[in-house]
Amino acid sequence: MTSTDSRTTTGQTTSRLPGFYDLGTQQRLQELAVIAEMSAEHKAVINGTAGLTPEQADHMIENAVGVYGLPLGVAANFVVNDREVIVPMAIEEPSVVAGASFMAKLARAGGGFRAECSPPEMIGQLQILDLDDVAETKHSLLEQKAELLGAVEDIDPVITQLGGGVRDLEVRIIRNSPIGSFLVVHLIYDTRDAMGANAINTAVEALAPLLEQKTGGRVHLRILSNLADRRLARAEVCIPTRELAFGSYSGERVRDGIIEAWAFAASDSYRAATHNKGIMNGVDAVVIATGNDWRAIEAGAHAFAARSGHYGSLSRWSVDDEGNLHGELEMPMAVGIVGGATSVHPCARAALQLLRVRSSVELAEIIVSVGLAQNLAALRALSTEGIQRGHMGLHARQVAIAAGAQGDEVERLARVMVVESKIRVDRARELLQSPDQLKWDSRRLEADDD
Ligand code: MEV
Repeated sequence: MTSTDSRTTTGQTTSRLPGFYDLGTQQRLQELAVIAEMSAEHKAVINGTAGLTPEQADHMIENAVGVYGLPLGVAANFVVNDREVIVPMAIEEPSVVAGASFMAKLARAGGGFRAECSPPEMIGQLQILDLDDVAETKHSLLEQKAELLGAVEDIDPVITQLGGGVRDLEVRIIRNSPIGSFLVVHLIYDTRDAMGANAINTAVEALAPLLEQKTGGRVHLRILSNLADRRLARAEVCIPTRELAFGSYSGERVRDGIIEAWAFAASDSYRAATHNKGIMNGVDAVVIATGNDWRAIEAGAHAFAARSGHYGSLSRWSVDDEGNLHGELEMPMAVGIVGGATSVHPCARAALQLLRVRSSVELAEIIVSVGLAQNLAALRALSTEGIQRGHMGLHARQVAIAAGAQGDEVERLARVMVVESKIRVDRARELLQSPDQLKWDSRRLEADDD
């Protein structure tokens, strides 16, 4: 019996995928296609027979010579705001997809993830130089706000028609910069389901001449800010303490260990950078799978983590009134489901279809939930048995492939190296060069298993 037999085949009513890991890649895709009612076209895109072509790539960047692949996996078990979601993740690092799936399974016991977003408002910045009196100019611009906003209100009729458009204008004084004082105007723009870089950059460029006319100054930079702190996504999760127990670790010990690990990141920037990197393992993998700009998300996340002047943890872990582990993650999430690579990259279209998201807000809510799950996976491992144990098997397979192993050899070689605790390319090559020893060693391990 395949795992499909145990669940519905008429729609994605569950993200539970029991037995999925044990299938081959083609069988997994076959199953996924049934569960998610994937079109033949999207199936072909995902299995690599009809992905991004060099011709399409040529329309996307300059001097294109080909395309670059990454493993695409799916994280199971996610429930976000009561909706089951199978999450596509594009990532080369072992253990990330497994970690997210496992933590989502623990989260299910507490009702899954609850997530919310602020409206998709981006900030566009204009730097105004050569002003005689920055304070007076600020005052005057704020008095003319309605006229300034009116000048760009129809800049993107499609976004306006969809309910987005310019929302506000703020003026900031920057004092004591290396070039003295100047003004910065923030144009706040609701970009709806687009990430919105083009819309906001077009708007600030269009506004610049009017600002020069009104201020008598010189508008220098006109560009969006990746510190998208008006476009925040927030997820929270409650894990019943009993779900955290494993091996010789009690649930309380794991829960308290996770909070101690978080406290380290909350207070120390060296640790916070690694802690947040773990969050971004999950966030970026979904951002990349859906064709979004992961450099923008990275920049926003780290700037937000340093907003108090101290670089700290993006997440927060505590014990709730019932003694359960409670986690929260809040971060900027400027992602879209239309425009740019989300509309052009065939894999991104397939990934978005798999997620069944109807808005950029819904996508952001899923991504921030995956980031929180990923953070939990890392903290749970780090505060108990360490991360190397879980990493070993997949890492050993990568080392085996790097040494030239093929087919069945990959698994056999990896197992031998894990047992020997010598996961190194030189050892892998040595074993490959003496196939008899490899055969003997791996048979011995199979016999031990029996
Ligand atoms: C590795 O990619 C991510 C971790 O280092 C994150 C963390 O330390 O929290 C395991």
